[in-house]
Amino acid sequence: GDYQKIKIRQGIETRDKPVKVQGWVHRLRSQKGLMFIVLRDGTGFLQCVLTGKNVQTFDALTLTLESTVEIKGTIKALPEGKSAPDNHELVADWWRCVGKAPGGEDAFTNKVSEGADPSILADSRHLVLRGETASAVLKVRAAVLSAFREEYASMNMLEVTPPCMVQTQVEGGSTLFAFDYYGQKAYLTQSSQLYLETCLPSLGDVFCVQESFRAEKSHTRRHLSEYTHLEAELGFLDFDELLAHLEQLICGTIDRVLANEASAALLQQLNPSFQKPTRPFRRMDYRDAIAWLKEHDVKTDEGKDHEVGDDIAEAAERKMTDELNVPIFLIKFPREIKAFYMKRCPGDERFTESVDVLMPGVGEIVGGSMRMSDSKELFDAYKHEGMDPSPYYWYTDQRKYGTCEHGGYGLGVERFLAWMTNRWTVRECSLYPRWTGRCTP
Ligand code: 4AD
Ligand code: MG
Repeated sequence: GDYQKIKIRQGIETRDKPVKVQGWVHRLRSQKGLMFIVLRDGTGFLQCVLTGKNVQTFDALTLTLESTVEIKGTIKALPEGKSAPDNHELVADWWRCVGKAPGGEDAFTNKVSEGADPSILADSRHLVLRGETASAVLKVRAAVLSAFREEYASMNMLEVTPPCMVQTQVEGGSTLFAFDYYGQKAYLTQSSQLYLETCLPSLGDVFCVQESFRAEKSHTRRHLSEYTHLEAELGFLDFDELLAHLEQLICGTIDRVLANEASAALLQQLNPSFQKPTRPFRRMDYRDAIAWLKEHDVKTDEGKDHEVGDDIAEAAERKMTDELNVPIFLIKFPREIKAFYMKRCPGDERFTESVDVLMPGVGEIVGGSMRMSDSKELFDAYKHEGMDPSPYYWYTDQRKYGTCEHGGYGLGVERFLAWMTNRWTVRECSLYPRWTGRCTP
């Protein structure tokens, strides 16, 4: 007869009809002349039951995990008390093996056994991705990216695609990846911020989802050499409006992910205790954070007491965030520890209208600020920083041809996901993570 080719996700709609499914053998069990295959095709998992002649062939007797198969049959609801994905199973009429995976020493389970050496698992990332946890994280990642885009659309913001190859720095020279560009020096982008700022006059408020590159000296569980950077820039707004926008972006995105049954279920599987943050987020002045760290005897990386002017390093930041256990807007950092473009606080030039969003378990997931909108101030900043203004002419021009108060931010997508899905490291939230010394597979 005619078997309709389906993806596993369509199983519920196609119950009791002849269907054909194709996928990978995720689990395998034989019992009293029956063979149970849990089939995986990326859209879901389907239990298939093979009987009679179908289990007596050479292929059936030697079938291995991760082999590809094609199965024809009918999906039947399971009676109460039996359990399988979606509470049904495919009763097979016919099947064939499409590509047999090795058994024995070379078997899949020997390649990616849990608890294997981390560097072996990293080399086998292409196989690790087949696991239930890794694929769930990547599915939530896709849902989160869609939700961000939907949230931006609802705010009338436009997506742009800035260049990856650039000749300017944004976040300091020490983390630049440099390369030869037809005989000129160029870099892989650290942040698309400066380009987004140039879009305001023509496109209005904009955002991008672009890879950023950092030759990080820090080997930590939240640093990658290449990460997905969600950045946005908004015009004609003040600092308070920027903070309110960030709250809306984060909460609105989470609402959208949770409103989707499939992604909500995956999130629940990965992080059963996930709770949507409540608004408004706690605002904490940088100076109050320093006071908090002192009071709680949290030392700097050099083992000293924190003083105003100090950078708040990862360990101290985590300690504070985990202790307070709510999202925090850490605001108004000193000028000396922040980037050149940040607007100073009106009335106190030593500090900037800047914000880091901190989340329990991860720490900083967003860095943002109001930008200098005055040319003269910006020239002073280039000078203060020892930067040659000439490669930045196009950035400076924004202040010349109709300036406006504006601000924006960058959100590390892998850090956001590590927080949401409760992963130990951002490496689990990237398809093929790159970090110090790791550029394979
Ligand atoms: O705080 P950062 O360096 O800020 C900027 O790049 C601004 N120019 C963004 C802007 O205003 N448009 O980076 C922003 C975020 C951080 O909060 C962090 O979440 C993430 O990017 N991030 C990294 N994620 C993974 N690995 C790294 N090495 C990261 N460096 C920054
Ligand atoms: Mg930062």
